Amino acid sequence: MKTSLLSERAQNALPSPTLGITARIKALQAQGVNVIGFGAGEPDFDTPEHVKAAAIRSLQSGFTKYTPSSGIEALKDAIIAKLERDQGLRYRRSQIIVSCGAKHSIYNLLQAVLNPGDEVIIPRPYWVSYPEQVKLAGGVPIFADAPEENGFQVTAAAIEAAITPRTRLVILNSPSNPTGAMISAEELARIATLVARRNLLVLSDEIYEHLTYGVAHVSIASFGEEIKQRTLVVNGFSKAYSMTGWRLGYLAGDEKIVAAMGRIQDQSTSNPVSFAQVGAVEALNGDQTCVEEMRAAFQERRDVIMARLNAMPGISCLRPDGAFYVFPNVSGLLSSRIPDGDVLAECLLTEAYIGVVPGSGFGAPRHIRLSYATSIKAIQEGMDRLQKAAERLVNER
Ligand SMILES: Cc1ncc(COP(=O)(O)O)c(C=O)c1O
Repeated sequence: MKTSLLSERAQNALPSPTLGITARIKALQAQGVNVIGFGAGEPDFDTPEHVKAAAIRSLQSGFTKYTPSSGIEALKDAIIAKLERDQGLRYRRSQIIVSCGAKHSIYNLLQAVLNPGDEVIIPRPYWVSYPEQVKLAGGVPIFADAPEENGFQVTAAAIEAAITPRTRLVILNSPSNPTGAMISAEELARIATLVARRNLLVLSDEIYEHLTYGVAHVSIASFGEEIKQRTLVVNGFSKAYSMTGWRLGYLAGDEKIVAAMGRIQDQSTSNPVSFAQVGAVEALNGDQTCVEEMRAAFQERRDVIMARLNAMPGISCLRPDGAFYVFPNVSGLLSSRIPDGDVLAECLLTEAYIGVVPGSGFGAPRHIRLSYATSIKAIQEGMDRLQKAAERLVNER
């Protein structure tokens, strides 16, 4: 009898701290505890009505059967039009795959391109799922620091220092979860040159593309044909259209890689939900006013939360240019009782009734992540609680 019921792969996969804290906040709220949650990685807005209406019509018309496993042609065409409109990138249908969320596109990509021991360079702080998904594909995550002193921007030099003969892929995420930082166009150009020179691939996760505050989003794939061929662009509907529960995302890139991902999808999930895909066509082709309205609301909230955080003792926070997270440095609150962000997050939850995500899951143990995808009223109330907690913790040191 084996000592464990579980495979080594399953044993090595860490639980998602972001999903974990969200579940704990919801459980406390269900018990009647008044917790203000800053954990959620999803917009608090409803999916726009015209998108829901399109999916409902499609469901009622009986569009309820299997579709091609890599997505319906109408959605691939809408994605092609979107990538040309927003990024100036031209793709053929055979270069597009629709999956059950951007997370699923990334998973299938890693399964399609990594052999055991292949290395993937991930800027740190990173989205929690990148290293875990690399490990699940048999790969090895290698971190390139994107230091706070550099505005949490990764540089081509930091990536180059992490390259070895086993390096296969570099992951970029701009705007970033958890820091909200964006990589400048100049740095992206340097990274593009490096990737071509060292014969690598890039996964460009552009899921927060539309949520930027005064800085234009640029895709690394738009820096010329050579880098375009090496880049797998990932995007989705969760953040820009508030469609997290619909589970739809997509990838555009090399035809052979997309075909291999299609085979993996054929043999695992098959197609993303049929009528959800029809809603997604409407999201991309329909009125885009909703995207701008949500973006503007996030910007207002970012400004409120930033002003409050930077007025607190023991906390310093860089101003993010995108996404809907702030990632404050909480070193000034740490002490022998509260040695890191994990213990701090626990203390804030149980003593101040605020739910935040500890930075350790993102590779930054002296930070915490707060999502401002919540109302201004909740932000103000939560910041009042955090202010009191910060004053107390600074005095305790
Ligand atoms: C950086 C990043 N990429 C991808 C995703 C996954 O998005 P989806 O809901 O489309 O799977 C998330 C969700 O939190 C994210 O933060």
